[in-house]
Amino acid sequence: MGRALGAAGNAVRSDKRVAVFMAGPVGAEDRAAGEAQAVDRQAFRDAMSRVGSAVHVLTTDGRAGRGGATMTAVASVSDQPPTVLVCLNRGSSTNRLVHENRVFAVSTLPAGAEEIAETFAGRRGLSGAERFVAGHWDRLVTGAPVLAGARMALDCRVVDMMEVATHTVLIGAVIAVRVGGAGGSLIYLDRHYHTLDP
Ligand SMILES: Cc1cc2nc3c(=O)[nH]c(=O)nc-3n(C[C@H](O)[C@H](O)[C@H](O)COP(=O)(O)O)c2cc1C
Repeated sequence: MGRALGAAGNAVRSDKRVAVFMAGPVGAEDRAAGEAQAVDRQAFRDAMSRVGSAVHVLTTDGRAGRGGATMTAVASVSDQPPTVLVCLNRGSSTNRLVHENRVFAVSTLPAGAEEIAETFAGRRGLSGAERFVAGHWDRLVTGAPVLAGARMALDCRVVDMMEVATHTVLIGAVIAVRVGGAGGSLIYLDRHYHTLDP
């Protein structure tokens, strides 16, 4: 077992099976400045890679134009009224579009949709409206594109947004829902795509 110092100068214990990154405690005077950075960015990313997530495509359309991005940071907030949140990188071109269009849709990808996921992650050299060559798209109420074969799709109006660190947390009021047919889902886990069959 090895022993080293973490980002905040705290003891880090590691062996082949486990790495433990401790976030505190630190001196009171350091706390305000240091706490937010106490955990190394890569350690956080490595930890989150162990969390299996459904893969979605967030899309938007309106006066700013059409675009979309692959997302795992999508969560239900409330069913009364139906509300979701998504965390969209402030540097993403889709972010600017959603800020202006004020609508977005979330399409949850079915098994076999890796190519759509990669296209909307910007890994096929396509941007903006060009990305919609991957998949078949239609619309529900707001005009944001929804994937025809999605496991489910939510059509949303932005009711709140919060700038937090590198991301915008978008709160969406769900205006329309479409539930897809039975079948497997695309899952992202340990930095790879997987299929989860019901
Ligand atoms: C599996 C996967 C999940 C992703 N999840 C998110 C996410 O939750 N939020 C986010 O902002 N970007 C996420 N990304 C990255 C965006 O898809 C990517 O940065 C974006 O599509 C780039 O868009 P742009 O070229 O329009 O800036 C994810 C990428 C992949 C491959």
